Amino acid sequence: MQHFTGNQTRPAKLAACLAVMLAGTAPLAAQTTFRQAAAPRGIPIGAAASADEYGPPDLLLNPSYAGLLSSQYSMLEPGNAMKWDVTEPELDTYNFQPGDELVAFAQANNMIVRGHNLCWYTQFPPWLAPYAATATPAEMSTLLEDHINAEVTHFGTQVFAWDVVNEAFNDPDSSGNVTLRDSIWYDQPGIGLAGNGYIAQAFQWAHAANPNALLFYNDYNIEEPGPKFDAVLNMVQQFVASGVPINGVGFEMHVENTYYPSATQLAQNMQALAALGLQVHITEMDVRLPVDSSGLASAADLQTQAQIYQSVLTVCLQQPNCTAFQVWGVSYNDSWIPSAFPGYGAALPFDLNYAPTPAFAALMTAMETTPPTLIASNMVNAASYQGGAVAPGEIVTLYGANFGPANLVGSQLDSSGQFPANVSGVEVLFDGIPATLLYAEVNQVGVIVPFEVAGKQQTVVQYQYNPGSGVVVSNTETVPVAAAAPAIFALNEQGSGPGAILNQDYSVNSAANPVAANGYVFVYGTGGGAIVGGATDGALAPGIGSLVTQPVTATIGGVAAYVQYAGPAPGEVNGVVQVNLQVPAGLAPGPQPVVITVGTAVTQSGITVAVQ
Ligand code: XIL
Repeated sequence: MQHFTGNQTRPAKLAACLAVMLAGTAPLAAQTTFRQAAAPRGIPIGAAASADEYGPPDLLLNPSYAGLLSSQYSMLEPGNAMKWDVTEPELDTYNFQPGDELVAFAQANNMIVRGHNLCWYTQFPPWLAPYAATATPAEMSTLLEDHINAEVTHFGTQVFAWDVVNEAFNDPDSSGNVTLRDSIWYDQPGIGLAGNGYIAQAFQWAHAANPNALLFYNDYNIEEPGPKFDAVLNMVQQFVASGVPINGVGFEMHVENTYYPSATQLAQNMQALAALGLQVHITEMDVRLPVDSSGLASAADLQTQAQIYQSVLTVCLQQPNCTAFQVWGVSYNDSWIPSAFPGYGAALPFDLNYAPTPAFAALMTAMETTPPTLIASNMVNAASYQGGAVAPGEIVTLYGANFGPANLVGSQLDSSGQFPANVSGVEVLFDGIPATLLYAEVNQVGVIVPFEVAGKQQTVVQYQYNPGSGVVVSNTETVPVAAAAPAIFALNEQGSGPGAILNQDYSVNSAANPVAANGYVFVYGTGGGAIVGGATDGALAPGIGSLVTQPVTATIGGVAAYVQYAGPAPGEVNGVVQVNLQVPAGLAPGPQPVVITVGTAVTQSGITVAVQ
């Protein structure tokens, strides 16, 4: 199973369930702009932007341009200012000023920055092609390494994601073959590495310069299945398998009203990359239309264009690995289309007057109405992060696409002593029963499976959320029900290693504070199943007499340990299970594995208790 970790938190095990400490819900602001509508969906919405990298006027000083860019978008990518022709005007002489200005604008407006690009076949400073004509591959290698290192280091953490290599593949030839594009980095003379070696090397250099940046391969005409996408897929598959530091693929999405991917095709390509654990960013979307001499398109074409924008954003919101959506320019005035494709224009959601077009309304509709996506395999035990069947009272974490709210909201005990089943507009239903929630945030929610599923074969799960513009309801997923699916909370964030275990004096068990032979430890977990006498969803644990209904056994260090108690954890919400174990005598000092069996189900491997 692959999670996309950009926005995920794994609240420390005990904190997630034992202490739910955050304040209540803030009222939603009126959602008038695109970025405001996008905030609860957790997806950055970007536009390519320019300052004065090719001379005055500086677009950022144009209030219409700057105002639209900062109010409608939460992400910015320099359209040219981080390319070679701007950044290395002379060999080993760098100019990052226009990029710095765009970064400063982004930061002043609470926008994130995508970097574009480090290695491309074109848009070179005048000295570079002549230099390459006489350089050795070793000199080209040094040149590219130095440039990537200088640029990535310069922008540092201000850039969260880089297009490392841009447009390295040719379009298919007449027999459908796709080859690497000739370039000074590949074969003219190249940096001395065969095949896609130069691409892999560029990613390695970028990663070395900023290990925290997300690194993308970016290209066009890879939005639908076909030989060019296959060539990219093969390459990135090879990169993932061999440990090349790549995080995703950019789909440029320069399309037109008569040529664009269907929703199904686009989703298929995103899923193929998701299977490799890779993200997708829509990086340069525009939808060019035939225009008249004033740069205007027909009303009918604008309607078609609106549908294309809506369809692409909808697919992106529905695919968990589509983690950013960006358009290539702010308005018709600064779009590259009229000069690159004579006779075409009107390609963006804002027109010559910086006024919204039908495409803008369509993007807003997609943002406000696209339902969240629930994925059964992304429903995991909150202690072990293992998926599969759910058990009554099990605390599970659901990772989905298009879940809200924008910021983590934890639940709190209400005046009737219950934890709520609605946090900030989020509900998760099991067979229609709203489950107790522990927290909700972008693309993640912490849920306690209702005790009512006990005895069932399966349960139908559904997620719903109200981002402020109305309730959006996910697909349903049917998941099997187990009597118990136990797991022990760990102190780390992987659900392994030292358990979140207390010694008898309630101090945390650790290497520095080990338990003595014959002493007791209190082990905390979840997924213990039904409770004797029943347990109420969302309430605090019933009395100490209540026990897990299935037989509980345990071993420490492979030796049977006496189970003194196994049931609800007093003072905690139903769903947290406490097991008191007596440590067998004769164990070697140090971390010893602890395994608890409830009925026929066992806790995850790798959890240890420190023994004296
Ligand atoms: C374009 C810019 O928008 C133009 O201003 C420039 O003259 C040429 O490049 N694919 C890419 C972008 O990856 O960098 C290109 O940007 C558009 C196509």
